[in-house]
Amino acid sequence: MSATPGQNYLRNRWYIVLSSDELRNGQLLKVKRLGMDLVFWRDSGGEIHAIDARCPHRGADLGLGKVVDDCVQCPYHGFLFDGGGRAVLIPSMGRSARINPNYRVRVHRVREFMNFIFMWYGEGEPSEKITWLEGLDGSFSFSTMKATWKVNYTRAIENQLDVSHLPFVHRTTIGRGNRTLVNGPIAELRGDELNVWVCNEVDVGQRPKRAEEMDRNNCRGRLQLIFPNYWQNVISDRLRVAAAFVPEDERTTVIYVRLYQKLARAPVIAQLFNWFMMYFNRVVLNQDRNVVESQVPMFSDVRNRELLVPADSPIMLFRKYMHENLGQKGA
Ligand code: FES
Ligand SMILES: [Fe+2]
Repeated sequence: MSATPGQNYLRNRWYIVLSSDELRNGQLLKVKRLGMDLVFWRDSGGEIHAIDARCPHRGADLGLGKVVDDCVQCPYHGFLFDGGGRAVLIPSMGRSARINPNYRVRVHRVREFMNFIFMWYGEGEPSEKITWLEGLDGSFSFSTMKATWKVNYTRAIENQLDVSHLPFVHRTTIGRGNRTLVNGPIAELRGDELNVWVCNEVDVGQRPKRAEEMDRNNCRGRLQLIFPNYWQNVISDRLRVAAAFVPEDERTTVIYVRLYQKLARAPVIAQLFNWFMMYFNRVVLNQDRNVVESQVPMFSDVRNRELLVPADSPIMLFRKYMHENLGQKGA
């Protein structure tokens, strides 16, 4: 049995929901995230706010409104909602009116960190700390691209933990060399992260090594997933590809891919390098897209009737974590 729609968002977590550069000062951004229609804006102090996009007065779309005095103005009757979700002005009642605090819209807690916008999803108090991808700090230069896939976000994440698809899906790019044989892989679930060491080889008839026979220092790379929705491929100390898998709704996922690099420093060279790498990343991501969108069922689940193989051990661990944590109180 597969998961039913809407049930596979982990609750009480910080999700990456936007890239910082999408939110310009004074502009209202309407997006769907985790099945909710939301408006985001950045006030004059640079602080970010997010509220439901449905006006509680008579149901107009706040996304059609605008930012006025650091608040959102509804396009229909001009109610002004502040970052705390309160109506601070109801024009028909006049500026002198004392507004009942029940005139409010639901607020979502947001934080900006590492040039991403995180949103707390759940009913608990947000955790202070946001767990971040190991070693990725401000010393890297980066560029971002975005793609929208018609998949559930769990399938998009599984795709980035999949170590046996490379010579097939990416035969002409990152999967060149026909390394179809998968040693291990070594996959470790620790706290809210999943790490995978990849070590594929050309098949000349040898038996693939089991995870416990492998030396992770000899592996070609490491994948790190931080639950609920971001990931990196540690290519080297100076080159990383990171991605966030952002559920728009249960059938649509926005993927932000970021190239982080310290290889090219001079501004023009760095720009050219980033441009080329992002072009390459887009080609690679498009190679994945068709095949992931074709998967049935659309939802990953520990109970899916799929004939998994040892190379799928990272995917099994991903499903195990999801299964255990979706059962949390409030899920
Ligand atoms: S519907 Fe929003 S102010 Fe009336
Ligand atoms: Fe891929």
